[in-house]
Amino acid sequence: MKIALGCDHGGFPLKETALKTILLAGHEVLDLGTFTADPVDYPDTALAVGQAIQRGEADRGLLICGSGVGACVAANKLRGIRAGLCHDTYSAHQSVEHDDANVLCLGARIIGIELAPELIRAFLGAQFSGEARHVRRLEKVKKMENSG
Ligand code: RB5
Repeated sequence: MKIALGCDHGGFPLKETALKTILLAGHEVLDLGTFTADPVDYPDTALAVGQAIQRGEADRGLLICGSGVGACVAANKLRGIRAGLCHDTYSAHQSVEHDDANVLCLGARIIGIELAPELIRAFLGAQFSGEARHVRRLEKVKKMENSG
């Protein structure tokens, strides 16, 4: 898969680890920055990653900010983007299997360089189950997105 990777300055310390993890797992990276530790706004990062997925330039996304919360809030404003803030491995794979999540959000100030790769691998290795109950629930989410 092609993975759009984006972070703000809060996520920057984890970016290199994330990038290497994605490559080592056999995926391609679309690096959307940031490229220095200078402050940038997480909504801009979330928009860049979300739009890459919307345009079909990436299959999934990985967003890293300080807590992971701001990036997650912003990404979920975009049509067709299902972002989850997952700091445990169960959520990281279940977000894809049940919720068809296409973006993983991480908080670089919360997790460390050992847990982050495990979360990323769990997310990237998971597939949507396609089970009827999950499809039904996602249809309801889509309706909410279209009516909001
Ligand atoms: C930046 O200081 C910080 O607010 C941002 O990275 C993120 O944690 C927001 O949720």
